[in-house]
Amino acid sequence: MRRILAIETSCDDTCAAVLEGPRARSNVVSSQARLHARYGGIVPEVASRRHLELINPVIDAALEGGGTDLDRVDAVAVTVKPGLIGALLVGVSTAKSLAAATGKPLIPVDHLHGHVAAAFLEPEPLAPPFLALIVSGGHTLLAEVRAHGSFAVAGQTLDDAAGEALDKAARLLGLGFPGGPAIQREAAAGNPESFPMPVAMSRGGGLDFSFSGLKTALVYAVGDLGPERTLERRADLAASFQEAVVGQLVAKLRRALDRGGWEAVALGGGVAANALLRERATALCAERGVRLKLVPPELCTDNAAMIGSAARHAEPIAYPGYLALDAAAR
Ligand code: KG4
Ligand code: ZN
Repeated sequence: MRRILAIETSCDDTCAAVLEGPRARSNVVSSQARLHARYGGIVPEVASRRHLELINPVIDAALEGGGTDLDRVDAVAVTVKPGLIGALLVGVSTAKSLAAATGKPLIPVDHLHGHVAAAFLEPEPLAPPFLALIVSGGHTLLAEVRAHGSFAVAGQTLDDAAGEALDKAARLLGLGFPGGPAIQREAAAGNPESFPMPVAMSRGGGLDFSFSGLKTALVYAVGDLGPERTLERRADLAASFQEAVVGQLVAKLRRALDRGGWEAVALGGGVAANALLRERATALCAERGVRLKLVPPELCTDNAAMIGSAARHAEPIAYPGYLALDAAAR
């Protein structure tokens, strides 16, 4: 069975994993979230510099945790796009160096294919065909997955990603970064019906998403309330906002299922860690008699195991063909 060392540095997490078939022997994530928290968001230059410091120790930890070393790895996989260009470059140049130094093949991976491929991993691997709802800080898309090696985008966000909207809402409410978990915690004590939020793209049959109108609605609500009352009503605001985000995600998933032909759904990406989204998606799939694969939380947020999983179904490039390989922001 092919053993893959996978590397992921597209955003603010420095990640490495060792894959063997659909099983992750190790999956190391060094999150930079606390480093960026004081800025209220990810600062690209800060992320790149931190990746540089972390990448070697993280790879060492993944190899050691996977009970292996570089010589016993068959290929090196790495995220080449999309993402922050400076962050991606750290992973790509490291992967190229390690592969070239040992004469091993390199497998370039698309980050989004990685989120889709998280569903192929143990426990309970899901095989195509299935519909994947991938919701993260950078992306929101519905993907039709008919083969392991590819996917087709059925719908995507026309403006902000769902996670980005949650992060911005959290910042507006003074809840810190990353915003998704903070909104979820705050929303637990709030009433989701207390602030009406616009339901975006509710008409027509489209599968695209939009979250910028929601953000604007929250800005107005906070402006109307003023700082003191915003603080008092923060749980209600968070609950209403979370309800609107999750409501739209589930509405589009329902619409995609209405088109028929799907027997399984995978839910992945960082926002798929959200408890309300999990609950609603579970209810919808139960109602439709469709299997739902909830990707485990540690495989939902950015990680390298999912990159290794996508790499298993992608084309390796033999040494030295990849030396000119470059990262791409999109
Ligand atoms: O997939 P991911 O780790 O990174 C990207 O590729 O973007 O997703 C990060 C996003 C952030 O926006 C974060 O706020 C959100 O996932 N997130 C959540 C939760 N946990 C993380 N959103 C809602 N509820 C959560 N529990
Ligand atoms: Zn991601």
